[in-house]
Amino acid sequence: MTFSEKYGPAWLLHKKLCKNALRSFSYAEPRGSGATCLLEEQVCAEAAEMVGVIREQAAKNCEMTGIDPAISLVTSVANVVCALCFGRRYDHNDKEFLTIVNINNEVLKLFAAGTLADFFPVFRYFPNPSLRKMVQYIHRMNGFMEQKIEEHINTFDKNCIRDITDALIALCEDREENRDTSLLTNSQVIRTVIDIFGAGFDTVIAGLQWSLLYLIKFPNIQDKIQQEIDEHIGSARLPQFSDKPNMPFTEAFIYEVFRHSSYVPFTIPHCTTRDTILNGYFIPKDTCVFINQYQVNHDVHLWGNPEEFQPHRFLGLSGQLNKELTEKVLIFGLGKRHCLGDGFARLEMFVFLTTLLHALRIEKVPGQELDLSADFSLTMKPHPYRISVSDRF
Ligand code: HEM
Repeated sequence: MTFSEKYGPAWLLHKKLCKNALRSFSYAEPRGSGATCLLEEQVCAEAAEMVGVIREQAAKNCEMTGIDPAISLVTSVANVVCALCFGRRYDHNDKEFLTIVNINNEVLKLFAAGTLADFFPVFRYFPNPSLRKMVQYIHRMNGFMEQKIEEHINTFDKNCIRDITDALIALCEDREENRDTSLLTNSQVIRTVIDIFGAGFDTVIAGLQWSLLYLIKFPNIQDKIQQEIDEHIGSARLPQFSDKPNMPFTEAFIYEVFRHSSYVPFTIPHCTTRDTILNGYFIPKDTCVFINQYQVNHDVHLWGNPEEFQPHRFLGLSGQLNKELTEKVLIFGLGKRHCLGDGFARLEMFVFLTTLLHALRIEKVPGQELDLSADFSLTMKPHPYRISVSDRF
């Protein structure tokens, strides 16, 4: 759906199916905790597990060298989407899972690097090592997904829908009964799970990596978030989705991370479906177009001082969130191709961050220079950095 189909009735149907599968499964009944939905149950459990893993890693390392938070973030966040898509989570040391996550990283890096064939299609017929490597990685990634889909088809029971893959298989079975096989093939429908899996973790991981970097660079901002956590959540329970609207400073911080880092600087490429005129510029049909999100997030006329990191810019005089301004931050794209997981991602980032800061104070390790420039991939990531952690209670 995301990369291969042309805009039209089949694509519209596909996006609707994808949206329904994601929504109905995220907001399904939880399996056994006091959470309000399955998504909250998965996110809260993974966030708590991540804090435990970070504590363990920190205990093994000396305070002077600290730990690299990326490793535990990656497994925890990937586990949320894996649980929703394939009904299972993986251990933080699971070799198969780490291999898949690493392959995904390599694919994203190669995507971002681009090749001559992106601009001159004829070059795709010439030997091209990076294109060949990318195709190999994508085959391995798809192999993993297809194996999961196959396992689901073999063990499918329509009275026990375990996850998004099962929900998509059920949809295909219903279509067969109703003889409704138009527009999309069964294989296209089931493979929607690959779009959700692919889109649903690297973006959240990058957001959290940037957030932790800003938190150790600006400790006074971390103090304010922890103050909000203490006032609204307290030490006796862990953060949950319903805390988000009561914590405007934390929300403002997340918006400012999105805006300042603009770590998805461009949307994925799209194509004009007809001749059009935008701001006086003529754009012919079939032109490749992107939205430059970075430019909007750093527009001086809109933000005044875009290079400053100031979560307060999103708060009104009485500390409430200025919704008119938050809507101007661009990170999830716009219009018909807008991200399908934005609500999901905002809740997930909120719970991961507050659960971490509820339990731990994080700091930069002595002597470490903190640099806000980025490594390029499909999303921009901060250069690797280390943190030292201490218990708050
Ligand atoms: C902070 C985290 C996230 C960011 C910054 C983000 C950003 C984006 C962006 C920029 C696009 C492309 C929009 C365009 O090309 O116009 C996109 C598409 C998409 N995202 Fe996200 N995303 C995030 C999380 C998620 C999550 C958690 C999911 C699902 C679990 C998800 C599912 C999708 C899907 C399915 C598409 C393709 C939509 C289409 O092809 O029309 N995203 N996202």
